Amino acid sequence: MTLDELKTFKQRGEKITCLTAYDASFAKLFDECGVDMILVGDSLGNVIQGGENTLGVSMEDMIYHTRIVAKCVQKALLIADMPYQSYTNSEQTLENAQRLMRSGAQMVKFEGGSEHEASFKILQANNIPVCGHLGLQPQSVIEMGGYKVQGRDDASAEKILADALLLESLGVSVLVLECVPAQLAAKISQQLSIPTIGIGAGVDCDGQVLVSYDILGINTDRVPKFVKNFLTNNNIQGAVNSFIGAVKTQRFPTNQHSY
Ligand code: KIV
Repeated sequence: MTLDELKTFKQRGEKITCLTAYDASFAKLFDECGVDMILVGDSLGNVIQGGENTLGVSMEDMIYHTRIVAKCVQKALLIADMPYQSYTNSEQTLENAQRLMRSGAQMVKFEGGSEHEASFKILQANNIPVCGHLGLQPQSVIEMGGYKVQGRDDASAEKILADALLLESLGVSVLVLECVPAQLAAKISQQLSIPTIGIGAGVDCDGQVLVSYDILGINTDRVPKFVKNFLTNNNIQGAVNSFIGAVKTQRFPTNQHSY
């Protein structure tokens, strides 16, 4: 999967699928099932490390898991998350993004908008593909006062839209929208030429991402509304194929999984 191919998915209206992977076996299985993008998410802080949030994940953790996953991914585009406090200024962002790219990532993702303008610019100047992440930003869970839907009021919706447009202008290639009202995500997806990938952001995003453990029904105590267990009466390949089929035919997410 190349960046150009991703763009053509959006142009022809084909939905993009993305799942998280943190280890070799799942990465190989998802890749063989034909998932379009694989994300080594810092959600590993929750599902692998048992943390309450993602704030305890380090660059060393991300490099370790990115290396393992990269060995097994042949077809999907491989994105790696930049963890908490690893992109606080442009020099640090460049250095850490380069470490992830050297570990096998094809794109890096980090959370936030205009406050990181210098970081987006330095990555663009160094030809490092970037995925943005707006809406609910799990690394800011403390400032945001918990895992809450973002962009419900006019002012915060305007800010998310303005940040999305800014990120596109700064060369971001893909944009994750997490936990925003479906109507807002639809408006952003219409206004951007880069693909949007939703998680709890409605069916009108250009693609969907879920934490792989969630589609297999392996949840800790907090099961967000946007989660769907695809494992029912299936093996794991079957669950992944159901997820891909449901996203491609827009049977997922439904209103039941949206805000
Ligand atoms: O870390 C992660 O898994 C993510 C996705 C949920 C988008 O950022």
